[in-house]
Amino acid sequence: MDKYCVFGNPIGHSKSPDIHAAYALQTGQQLSYEKRLAPLDGFPAAVRAFVAEGGKGANVTVPFKLEAHKLCGALTMRAQAAGAVNTLLFTDDGTIGDNTDGAGLVNDIVGNAGVPITGKRVLLLGAGGAARGAVLPLLEHHPSQLTIANRTVATAEALVAQFAALSGGAALSACGYEAPRGQYDIVINATSASLQSDLPPVPAEVFGPGTLALDMMYGKEPTVFMQFAADHGAIVRDGLGMLVEQAAEAFMAWRGVRPQTTELLAQLRSKL
Ligand code: ATR
Repeated sequence: MDKYCVFGNPIGHSKSPDIHAAYALQTGQQLSYEKRLAPLDGFPAAVRAFVAEGGKGANVTVPFKLEAHKLCGALTMRAQAAGAVNTLLFTDDGTIGDNTDGAGLVNDIVGNAGVPITGKRVLLLGAGGAARGAVLPLLEHHPSQLTIANRTVATAEALVAQFAALSGGAALSACGYEAPRGQYDIVINATSASLQSDLPPVPAEVFGPGTLALDMMYGKEPTVFMQFAADHGAIVRDGLGMLVEQAAEAFMAWRGVRPQTTELLAQLRSKL
Protein backbone atom coordinates (compact mmCIF):
# COMPACT_ATOMS: atom_id res chain seq x y z
CA MET A 1 0.00 0.00 0.00
CA ASP A 2 1.41 3.44 -0.91
CA LYS A 3 2.35 5.45 2.17
CA TYR A 4 1.68 9.12 2.81
CA CYS A 5 1.83 11.28 5.92
CA VAL A 6 1.61 14.81 7.27
CA PHE A 7 4.56 16.35 9.13
CA GLY A 8 4.01 19.08 11.70
CA ASN A 9 4.77 20.14 15.25
CA PRO A 10 2.30 20.00 16.91
CA ILE A 11 0.37 17.52 14.78
CA GLY A 12 -2.13 15.91 17.18
CA HIS A 13 -5.18 17.84 15.97
CA SER A 14 -4.51 17.49 12.25
CA LYS A 15 -7.59 16.51 10.25
CA SER A 16 -5.51 15.51 7.22
CA PRO A 17 -5.49 11.73 7.92
CA ASP A 18 -9.32 11.70 8.08
CA ILE A 19 -9.60 13.82 4.94
CA HIS A 20 -7.21 11.67 2.89
CA ALA A 21 -8.78 8.44 4.18
CA ALA A 22 -12.15 9.73 2.98
CA TYR A 23 -10.70 10.68 -0.42
CA ALA A 24 -9.01 7.27 -0.80
CA LEU A 25 -12.27 5.47 0.00
CA GLN A 26 -14.27 7.68 -2.36
CA THR A 27 -11.87 7.25 -5.30
CA GLY A 28 -10.98 3.58 -4.63
CA GLN A 29 -7.27 4.38 -4.17
CA GLN A 30 -5.21 2.03 -1.98
CA LEU A 31 -3.10 4.14 0.36
CA SER A 32 -2.27 4.79 3.99
CA TYR A 33 -1.89 8.27 5.50
CA GLU A 34 -0.61 8.99 9.01
CA LYS A 35 0.44 11.89 11.25
CA ARG A 36 4.15 12.32 11.96
CA LEU A 37 5.38 14.61 14.71
CA ALA A 38 8.75 15.92 13.48
CA PRO A 39 11.13 17.38 16.09
CA LEU A 40 11.49 21.17 15.68
CA ASP A 41 15.18 20.68 14.84
CA GLY A 42 14.72 17.41 12.97
CA PHE A 43 12.42 17.94 10.00
CA PRO A 44 14.86 16.88 7.21
CA ALA A 45 15.78 13.71 9.13
CA ALA A 46 12.09 12.87 9.65
CA VAL A 47 11.50 13.25 5.90
CA ARG A 48 14.52 11.07 5.06
CA ALA A 49 13.29 8.38 7.44
CA PHE A 50 9.85 8.39 5.84
CA VAL A 51 11.34 8.13 2.33
CA ALA A 52 13.53 5.22 3.52
CA GLU A 53 10.34 3.47 4.71
CA GLY A 54 8.96 3.77 1.18
CA GLY A 55 6.84 6.94 1.63
CA LYS A 56 5.40 8.21 -1.66
CA GLY A 57 4.40 11.69 -0.57
CA ALA A 58 3.67 13.95 2.39
CA ASN A 59 1.93 17.07 3.48
CA VAL A 60 3.79 19.63 5.52
CA THR A 61 2.21 21.96 8.04
CA VAL A 62 3.31 24.49 10.67
CA PRO A 63 6.17 25.21 11.24
CA PHE A 64 7.97 23.33 8.45
CA LYS A 65 6.65 24.80 5.19
CA LEU A 66 9.72 26.99 4.60
CA GLU A 67 12.15 24.22 5.51
CA ALA A 68 10.29 21.87 3.15
CA HIS A 69 10.78 24.45 0.38
CA LYS A 70 14.53 24.37 1.02
CA LEU A 71 14.96 20.61 0.91
CA CYS A 72 13.23 19.94 -2.43
CA GLY A 73 15.23 19.05 -5.53
CA ALA A 74 12.53 20.55 -7.76
CA LEU A 75 9.60 22.89 -7.19
CA THR A 76 6.34 23.48 -9.02
CA MET A 77 5.79 27.04 -10.20
CA ARG A 78 3.22 27.70 -7.51
CA ALA A 79 5.61 26.42 -4.82
CA GLN A 80 8.34 28.70 -6.16
CA ALA A 81 5.96 31.66 -6.12
CA ALA A 82 4.74 30.86 -2.61
CA GLY A 83 8.25 30.36 -1.25
CA ALA A 84 6.77 27.53 0.82
CA VAL A 85 5.87 23.88 0.32
CA ASN A 86 2.89 22.03 1.81
CA THR A 87 3.02 18.96 -0.46
CA LEU A 88 5.99 16.68 -1.13
CA LEU A 89 6.19 14.06 -3.87
CA PHE A 90 8.94 11.46 -3.44
CA THR A 91 10.00 10.19 -6.86
CA ASP A 92 12.89 8.11 -8.19
CA ASP A 93 14.44 11.39 -9.34
CA GLY A 94 14.18 13.06 -5.93
CA THR A 95 11.77 15.18 -3.93
CA ILE A 96 9.38 17.54 -5.71
CA GLY A 97 7.78 20.35 -3.71
CA ASP A 98 4.32 21.72 -4.46
CA ASN A 99 2.07 24.23 -2.76
CA THR A 100 -1.67 23.55 -2.88
CA ASP A 101 -2.77 26.09 -0.24
CA GLY A 102 -3.47 28.95 -2.65
CA ALA A 103 -5.30 26.73 -5.14
CA GLY A 104 -7.31 25.35 -2.21
CA LEU A 105 -8.28 28.87 -1.15
CA VAL A 106 -9.33 29.89 -4.63
CA ASN A 107 -11.24 26.64 -5.28
CA ASP A 108 -13.10 27.17 -2.02
CA ILE A 109 -14.03 30.76 -2.88
CA VAL A 110 -15.08 30.05 -6.47
CA GLY A 111 -16.35 26.47 -6.20
CA ASN A 112 -17.75 26.09 -2.69
CA ALA A 113 -18.74 29.67 -1.83
CA GLY A 114 -19.77 30.32 -5.44
CA VAL A 115 -18.10 33.73 -5.53
CA PRO A 116 -16.22 34.58 -8.73
CA ILE A 117 -12.91 36.43 -8.35
CA THR A 118 -12.69 37.71 -11.92
CA GLY A 119 -13.27 41.46 -12.12
CA LYS A 120 -13.66 41.79 -8.35
CA ARG A 121 -11.97 44.01 -5.74
CA VAL A 122 -9.96 41.72 -3.47
CA LEU A 123 -8.31 42.71 -0.19
CA LEU A 124 -5.69 40.31 1.19
CA LEU A 125 -4.70 40.86 4.81
CA GLY A 126 -1.22 39.66 5.76
CA ALA A 127 2.04 39.20 3.90
CA GLY A 128 3.51 36.12 5.58
CA GLY A 129 3.68 32.60 4.18
CA ALA A 130 -0.09 32.08 4.02
CA ALA A 131 -0.67 35.34 2.14
CA ARG A 132 2.24 34.79 -0.22
CA GLY A 133 0.83 31.42 -1.30
CA ALA A 134 -2.50 33.03 -2.12
CA VAL A 135 -1.26 35.84 -4.39
CA LEU A 136 -0.56 33.93 -7.63
CA PRO A 137 -3.72 31.74 -7.54
CA LEU A 138 -5.79 34.91 -6.91
CA LEU A 139 -4.11 36.79 -9.77
CA GLU A 140 -4.74 33.85 -12.11
CA HIS A 141 -8.47 34.61 -11.72
CA HIS A 142 -7.96 38.22 -12.87
CA PRO A 143 -9.46 40.35 -10.10
CA SER A 144 -9.81 44.03 -11.06
CA GLN A 145 -7.84 44.94 -7.96
CA LEU A 146 -5.71 43.11 -5.41
CA THR A 147 -4.75 45.14 -2.36
CA ILE A 148 -2.28 43.51 0.03
CA ALA A 149 -2.48 45.09 3.49
CA ASN A 150 -0.07 44.22 6.26
CA ARG A 151 1.03 45.44 9.69
CA THR A 152 4.57 45.71 8.31
CA VAL A 153 3.89 47.59 5.06
CA ALA A 154 7.37 46.87 3.65
CA THR A 155 6.61 43.12 3.56
CA ALA A 156 3.42 43.78 1.59
CA GLU A 157 5.38 46.06 -0.75
CA ALA A 158 7.93 43.29 -1.32
CA LEU A 159 5.09 40.93 -2.31
CA VAL A 160 3.73 43.48 -4.76
CA ALA A 161 7.20 43.87 -6.28
CA GLN A 162 7.56 40.07 -6.54
CA PHE A 163 4.25 39.61 -8.35
CA ALA A 164 4.05 42.87 -10.36
CA ALA A 165 4.97 41.16 -13.62
CA LEU A 166 2.29 38.50 -13.06
CA SER A 167 -0.57 40.84 -12.15
CA GLY A 168 -2.45 39.97 -15.35
CA GLY A 169 -4.04 43.40 -15.52
CA ALA A 170 -5.09 43.56 -11.86
CA ALA A 171 -4.30 46.78 -10.01
CA LEU A 172 -1.87 45.41 -7.43
CA SER A 173 -0.98 47.57 -4.42
CA ALA A 174 0.36 47.41 -0.86
CA CYS A 175 -0.66 49.36 2.24
CA GLY A 176 -1.19 49.23 6.00
CA TYR A 177 -4.36 47.77 7.55
CA GLU A 178 -6.04 51.14 8.03
CA ALA A 179 -5.55 52.44 4.49
CA PRO A 180 -8.06 50.51 2.31
CA ARG A 181 -11.09 52.57 1.27
CA GLY A 182 -14.53 51.58 0.04
CA GLN A 183 -16.24 48.20 -0.01
CA TYR A 184 -14.35 45.16 -1.29
CA ASP A 185 -16.01 42.13 -2.88
CA ILE A 186 -13.67 39.66 -1.16
CA VAL A 187 -11.61 40.20 2.01
CA ILE A 188 -9.24 37.39 3.01
CA ASN A 189 -7.62 37.23 6.44
CA ALA A 190 -4.29 35.48 5.86
CA THR A 191 -2.72 36.86 9.05
CA SER A 192 -2.13 34.77 12.13
CA ALA A 193 -3.93 37.43 14.24
CA SER A 194 -6.98 35.19 14.86
CA LEU A 195 -4.76 32.78 16.80
CA GLN A 196 -4.39 35.51 19.44
CA SER A 197 -8.05 36.58 19.08
CA ASP A 198 -6.72 39.72 17.45
CA LEU A 199 -8.27 41.68 14.62
CA PRO A 200 -6.24 43.42 11.89
CA PRO A 201 -7.57 46.99 12.26
CA VAL A 202 -9.18 47.37 8.83
CA PRO A 203 -11.84 50.06 8.35
CA ALA A 204 -15.41 48.71 8.67
CA GLU A 205 -16.22 50.25 5.26
CA VAL A 206 -14.31 47.45 3.45
CA PHE A 207 -17.20 45.13 4.40
CA GLY A 208 -20.77 45.42 3.21
CA PRO A 209 -23.66 43.35 1.90
CA GLY A 210 -22.26 41.03 -0.75
CA THR A 211 -18.70 41.09 0.61
CA LEU A 212 -17.25 37.63 1.18
CA ALA A 213 -15.02 37.77 4.28
CA LEU A 214 -12.90 34.65 4.60
CA ASP A 215 -10.62 33.80 7.51
CA MET A 216 -8.02 31.09 6.79
CA MET A 217 -8.43 29.92 10.42
CA TYR A 218 -11.27 27.65 11.52
CA GLY A 219 -12.72 26.35 14.74
CA LYS A 220 -15.97 25.85 16.59
CA GLU A 221 -16.51 29.57 17.08
CA PRO A 222 -16.24 32.33 14.46
CA THR A 223 -12.99 34.31 14.72
CA VAL A 224 -12.99 37.97 15.80
CA PHE A 225 -12.39 38.86 12.15
CA MET A 226 -15.48 36.89 11.08
CA GLN A 227 -17.56 38.51 13.82
CA PHE A 228 -16.44 42.00 12.87
CA ALA A 229 -17.10 41.35 9.16
CA ALA A 230 -20.55 39.85 9.87
CA ASP A 231 -21.43 42.84 12.08
CA HIS A 232 -20.79 45.04 9.06
CA GLY A 233 -22.94 43.05 6.65
CA ALA A 234 -20.45 40.62 5.10
CA ILE A 235 -21.02 36.96 4.31
CA VAL A 236 -18.42 35.11 6.38
CA ARG A 237 -16.49 31.91 5.78
CA ASP A 238 -13.77 30.15 7.75
CA GLY A 239 -10.77 28.17 6.51
CA LEU A 240 -12.29 24.68 6.69
CA GLY A 241 -13.20 24.69 3.00
CA MET A 242 -9.68 25.79 2.12
CA LEU A 243 -8.30 22.91 4.20
CA VAL A 244 -10.45 20.35 2.41
CA GLU A 245 -9.61 21.85 -1.00
CA GLN A 246 -5.83 22.02 -0.47
CA ALA A 247 -5.99 18.34 0.50
CA ALA A 248 -7.97 17.50 -2.66
CA GLU A 249 -5.35 19.32 -4.71
CA ALA A 250 -2.53 17.37 -2.98
CA PHE A 251 -4.41 14.09 -3.50
CA MET A 252 -4.69 15.00 -7.19
CA ALA A 253 -0.93 15.71 -7.37
CA TRP A 254 -0.13 12.31 -5.82
CA ARG A 255 -2.77 10.06 -7.36
CA GLY A 256 -3.93 11.83 -10.53
CA VAL A 257 -7.56 11.61 -9.37
CA ARG A 258 -9.59 14.56 -8.09
CA PRO A 259 -11.87 13.72 -5.15
CA GLN A 260 -15.26 15.34 -4.55
CA THR A 261 -15.18 17.69 -1.58
CA THR A 262 -18.73 18.90 -0.89
CA GLU A 263 -19.94 16.03 1.27
CA LEU A 264 -16.73 15.78 3.28
CA LEU A 265 -16.77 19.51 3.99
CA ALA A 266 -20.32 19.26 5.34
CA GLN A 267 -19.35 16.24 7.47
CA LEU A 268 -16.30 17.96 8.97
CA ARG A 269 -18.34 21.11 9.61
CA SER A 270 -20.92 19.13 11.59
CA LYS A 271 -18.14 17.68 13.78
CA LEU A 272 -16.39 21.00 14.64
P1 ATR B 1 1.87 32.43 8.19
O1 ATR B 1 2.77 31.37 7.65
O2 ATR B 1 0.69 31.92 8.97
O3 ATR B 1 1.47 33.44 7.17
P2 ATR B 1 3.78 34.30 9.16
O4 ATR B 1 4.60 34.11 7.94
O5 ATR B 1 4.45 34.43 10.49
O6 ATR B 1 2.72 33.15 9.32
O7 ATR B 1 2.89 35.62 8.90
C1 ATR B 1 1.98 36.10 9.83
C2 ATR B 1 1.21 37.28 9.23
O8 ATR B 1 0.23 37.72 10.18
C3 ATR B 1 2.07 38.48 8.92
O9 ATR B 1 1.51 39.18 7.84
C4 ATR B 1 1.96 39.29 10.23
O10 ATR B 1 2.23 40.66 10.09
P3 ATR B 1 3.76 41.21 10.11
O11 ATR B 1 4.34 40.90 8.76
O12 ATR B 1 3.62 42.66 10.34
O13 ATR B 1 4.44 40.48 11.23
C5 ATR B 1 0.50 39.07 10.54
N1 ATR B 1 0.15 39.20 11.97
C6 ATR B 1 0.60 38.41 12.97
N2 ATR B 1 0.04 38.77 14.15
C7 ATR B 1 -0.78 39.81 13.89
C8 ATR B 1 -1.63 40.63 14.69
N3 ATR B 1 -1.77 40.42 16.00
N4 ATR B 1 -2.33 41.60 14.07
C9 ATR B 1 -2.23 41.80 12.75
N5 ATR B 1 -1.42 41.10 11.94
C10 ATR B 1 -0.70 40.10 12.49
